[in-house]
Amino acid sequence: MKTSSDSINVYASATVANVACGFDSLGFAINEPGDEVALQRNDSGVVRVTKITGDNGRLPLESHKNTASVAVLTMIDELKRRGDDTSRVGFDIQIKKMMPLGSGLGSSAASSVAAVVGANALLGEPFTRKELLPFVMQSEKIACGAAHADNVAPALLGGFVLVRSYDPLDVVQIHVPDDLWCAVVHPHIELLTEDARRILKKNIRLDDAIIQWSNLAGLITGLMKEDYDLIGRSLDDIIFEPVRSLLIPGFDAVKGDALKAGALGCSISGSGPSIFALCRGEENARAVGKSMEKAFVPYQLGTDLYISQVNHVGPRTVA
Ligand code: HSE
Repeated sequence: MKTSSDSINVYASATVANVACGFDSLGFAINEPGDEVALQRNDSGVVRVTKITGDNGRLPLESHKNTASVAVLTMIDELKRRGDDTSRVGFDIQIKKMMPLGSGLGSSAASSVAAVVGANALLGEPFTRKELLPFVMQSEKIACGAAHADNVAPALLGGFVLVRSYDPLDVVQIHVPDDLWCAVVHPHIELLTEDARRILKKNIRLDDAIIQWSNLAGLITGLMKEDYDLIGRSLDDIIFEPVRSLLIPGFDAVKGDALKAGALGCSISGSGPSIFALCRGEENARAVGKSMEKAFVPYQLGTDLYISQVNHVGPRTVA
């Protein structure tokens, strides 16, 4: 994403993290929703968030608190650490939130990824895409207290991503079959990732761990071998979903109807409340999505439905 201009406008998309059995280690990008971030480079030596729209005034403008500017500031710190003179590196940042907060769709990740990719482009790309990852992980730490990478890595790199290790950081892109589609339903309630992490048990039983890591291996193998049945059999989270689903009204009904409509599997997107289903083919994904929305009706929650293949493009410039 090279640019010779002083300004850039970048779109980064929503992500589905965890993907059932891959807590904090799996995630994939979808096409929409997403956020747009406009950056203007200047020589003030200051990073400012000058405007945020679409958040109803809820996100902080202070640059050390906003996830988008935190990613950019962390990047500038690294340039300084490498010996660059950053005293005149400044940015004005405008954020257009086009996705809901606390949705389980990686809202903070989308803004911070768009911001850091834009800032990197305006500086002549001193960092590769992968090298930007620690900067956006720092934003996740600000957002929810944990520097998890399963939203930011796919939002940054596109595709379906495995975070094999956090220390040292090792992310791997996973092949996905062409006909893999996703239906994501966002019910209009808000869950903070920080809260949804706090309720998790810190220890798990060995028997449960064996089931979970076997499913994770099964899911990766199914994706790489394009074996849809294996993908379906492996899309199961026996550790986190039973706890977190209690926070999502109608979860069991929605999941049950998704599976009845032919989904390969269904679980919570990230820390919820959005629910995703993986499907074979667009037609099935649309049918599954409709049945999931219908299952929410008795719970009197408004919903948004997104149908998408895995987004392999990642962040892109927009006019
Ligand atoms: N892995 C994170 C969690 C994703 O489940 O808490 C948050 O979107």
